[in-house]
Amino acid sequence: MNMQNTRHTADATTVEEGLAIQEEQAKFDSTAATEVAMQNTLLTPRFYTTDFDELDAIDVSPVREDWDKLIAQMVSDPNKGHFKKNADWDKVDWDGMDPALRKEFIDFLISSCTAEFSGCVLYKEMKRRGKNKDITQLFQLMARDEARHAGFINDALREAGVAVNLGFLTQSKKYTYFRPKFIYYATYLSEKIGYARYITIFRHLQEHPEHRFHPIFKWFEEWCNDEFSHGEAFALLMKTDPRLTSGTNVLWIKFFLTAVFATMHVRDHQRPVFHAALGVDPDWYGHEVFVKTSALTKQIFPITLDIDNPRWAAGLKRLQKANADLDNARQSKGVGAMARRMSAQARAATAFVGLFTIPMKKHRVPDSTRMVPAY
Ligand SMILES: [Fe+2]
Ligand SMILES: [Fe+2]
Repeated sequence: MNMQNTRHTADATTVEEGLAIQEEQAKFDSTAATEVAMQNTLLTPRFYTTDFDELDAIDVSPVREDWDKLIAQMVSDPNKGHFKKNADWDKVDWDGMDPALRKEFIDFLISSCTAEFSGCVLYKEMKRRGKNKDITQLFQLMARDEARHAGFINDALREAGVAVNLGFLTQSKKYTYFRPKFIYYATYLSEKIGYARYITIFRHLQEHPEHRFHPIFKWFEEWCNDEFSHGEAFALLMKTDPRLTSGTNVLWIKFFLTAVFATMHVRDHQRPVFHAALGVDPDWYGHEVFVKTSALTKQIFPITLDIDNPRWAAGLKRLQKANADLDNARQSKGVGAMARRMSAQARAATAFVGLFTIPMKKHRVPDSTRMVPAY
């Protein structure tokens, strides 16, 4: 297929333009990859919808100074044109790749593409429905970035003969409703943990280029800076209303931190060959990402999880074992398999409660949330 003369998502200046380009390419996309992206389980990326009117009613005056700086930086668009293949894009030998690695890596790319696109769809919808100039401008800028990110991952997938039909996903994937405050916690965290994940892999591969088995990792540094800015925006949104980060909401914050960290741990341990190829121990990687994310979220959350508590590592291990047993039991039928499934589900729930009940660490939140990427 010749796409030399077609426009590229990396150059799109609005989300609408980015999606139109995706749509043109969709005829090349594959059913199998789209089906994987369509899955809705506790561990796969979901699409979200919310009360857009409530979100639109936010008044950013209390954080105006920081807000204007952040928006100006996003409007200047330092990554325009960045997310496309260039001379740094080495040839990938998909056919020569170890089949187990190929399978896990494609799963990683599909899952990442779905997560990027999930942000794009939510942000675009907010921009479309809102009337508040500050809010619609921010969401337009973030949707623009996520459309580029998803488009770039799909470029990588197309070389392997698979790609996700993003237009079909928008129409057909189930949307989960979250009230706005849960959107803030979940989305803020996914942006910051996204930053921490990308930068940790990028720095590791700078030290160990021999493990860089695919060129997409070279793009992770600028990529994570986009996610960092998105996280900054959500921190500012939460800063406008102190109730969001105090009182009983602190328990919700603890819940989301625990759920997001635990999901990442279980999900990463499902890809042992992928992590071995990167030369990364998933336990080390997970801990690194939790340390960085905890440090970042201190900008707005008054608590962090006690990830050095021995119960934390032990609980994650139990959760992962229960999840692996659950996967195995799902492969077979019959009463025995059903009993194994129920036992595994109960153990997973107990392990999660165990993690959630570890005492949290409290601290004072700074007056200004603003941070710069420092890792
Ligand atoms: Fe992104
Ligand atoms: Fe993002």
